[in-house]
Amino acid sequence: MALPDGYTIRPVRVSDLDRYLSVLSVLTTVGDVSVTQFQELIAHWEAHPNVYFPRVIADAEDKVVATGMIVVEQKLIHGCGKVGHIEDIAVDKDQQGKNLGYHLITHLNSIGEKEGCYKIILDCSPENTGFYVKCGYKDSGVYMSKRYD
Ligand code: ACO
Repeated sequence: MALPDGYTIRPVRVSDLDRYLSVLSVLTTVGDVSVTQFQELIAHWEAHPNVYFPRVIADAEDKVVATGMIVVEQKLIHGCGKVGHIEDIAVDKDQQGKNLGYHLITHLNSIGEKEGCYKIILDCSPENTGFYVKCGYKDSGVYMSKRYD
């Protein structure tokens, strides 16, 4: 099973701003992000190339149709092991159901494995557990949060 013809997975670029925000809006409230803020954010990610791996799937016209990231956390436990965190997975509404989400997660998994993670974890809503099971994940407990917004 391959990506559709012409589609690629690549790091996010400053020029992706509008599409990146638009695709992410299927997941959550994105808010206003200026070009300068986006440039600074990408510069921050790029300054930590072994920690942040922001990726997009772009179509044949190089238009962003899916977003996602793996963040590699360097820990003390497990002999200074590393844990990967999958974040901000979103596939554009009219592109869902084409296996793009599956390809993106598979790609992020392989980054985590290559970086030496002993596990990769993520939070998701109950409606998405079936998708992540298809991507090789299993239900591993309870998600809790404390919010300040
Ligand atoms: N429940 C059960 N199975 C599912 C679901 C679901 N919600 N979504 C997809 N699947 C199945 C598909 O049927 C397919 O199965 P198959 O191989 O037997 O045909 C398999 O999972 C792969 O599906 P894809 O086509 O790759 O899924 P898609 O590209 O549509 O992406 C995603 C799935 C990411 C959940 C997408 O629907 C989306 O963006 N939803 C809105 C935003 C969202 O909820 N993102 C996840 C947030 S969690 C996080 O960021 C860590």
